[in-house]
Amino acid sequence: MTYKIAVIKGDGIGPEIIESALLVLNKIADIYNHEFNYKFVLAGGNAIDETGVPLPQETIDICLDSDAVLLGAVGGPKWDHLPGHLRPEKGLLQIRQALGLYGNLRPTNVFKALKDASPLKPEVIGDNLDLLVVRELTGGIYFGNRGRSENAAFDTLEYSRMEVERITRLAFEVARKRKSKVTNVDKMNVLESSRLWREVVLKVAKDYPDVTLEHQLVDNAAMQLIRDPKQFDVIVTSNLFGDILSDEASMLTGSIGMLPSASIGDGTLGLYEPIHGSAPTIAGLNQANPLGTILSTAMMLRYSLNLDDEAKTIEEAVEKTLDQGYRTIDIASGGKVSTLTEMTEAVLDNL
Ligand code: IPM
Ligand code: MG
Repeated sequence: MTYKIAVIKGDGIGPEIIESALLVLNKIADIYNHEFNYKFVLAGGNAIDETGVPLPQETIDICLDSDAVLLGAVGGPKWDHLPGHLRPEKGLLQIRQALGLYGNLRPTNVFKALKDASPLKPEVIGDNLDLLVVRELTGGIYFGNRGRSENAAFDTLEYSRMEVERITRLAFEVARKRKSKVTNVDKMNVLESSRLWREVVLKVAKDYPDVTLEHQLVDNAAMQLIRDPKQFDVIVTSNLFGDILSDEASMLTGSIGMLPSASIGDGTLGLYEPIHGSAPTIAGLNQANPLGTILSTAMMLRYSLNLDDEAKTIEEAVEKTLDQGYRTIDIASGGKVSTLTEMTEAVLDNL
């Protein structure tokens, strides 16, 4: 089969990690006899430099005409002086919204070989820690009305029933394919929007009697993630809470460099990116961990292209690479440090 993939290299380490991911995809294409047609498009800081805006219309059009979008990372200190609506990050927010990608899936799996990399005690992490944050991605305080006067500023947090319902359904559907447990995280003791959120979650839950539902306030959830992360299967939460909790959850694995993400909507089009940022301080040094992006391609194959065997092949190759002892600097405690290139070659050999 032939697939159209829009590729956004982005800024900082973006181009290097995307190059690794494309080598992996090309090898998958050879093995399984697929054709991936890449179209390279701009978003983020590089788009600002070349076109004056963080998300050119051409990028949106090409992404909408693709089967999936693969993204490295955007942003960097070079663009920090720009006003909010022209920052590289705005390009990311706009693309999520323009493609209707309201559901962000952020899995945290601890690879056996990396158990020691976690800052938590091995008994807290357990043998197969596997949790998934389902973050609402196109609403809430990220997209509400905002403004400032000379001595004050405000951001608005608003959710409609429809927005809460669709993300909740997504969370329950994926929970069914996992351990059938959903933990809803909100702040209903303070926020009106969270009271609506919880009301809708309770209503949707009636359609999923086979799935266990629990509720936690976000401050408690932040604490529970460290106290006993094994209690979680799927966490469903709003945009800002999900942003924060998914970074926290990622550290259970010892490195944010390992983790992939999928942003999906109602169709099969999705955007796939590592959850880490553009790491400008190590850009171009061949030190970045390519595994978060490589694992994002696996999610892309699974969710947008419906190629589950191919996705598993990548995930197994990554697991084997870690078992063989390859470590980039972010996950190396003492031992031998591999470069991005060495890590990528090892994954390719293991495919
Ligand atoms: C993320 C990032 C983005 C977000 C930034 C770069 C706008 O932190 O994908 O988690 O806050 O959504
Ligand atoms: Mg974030």
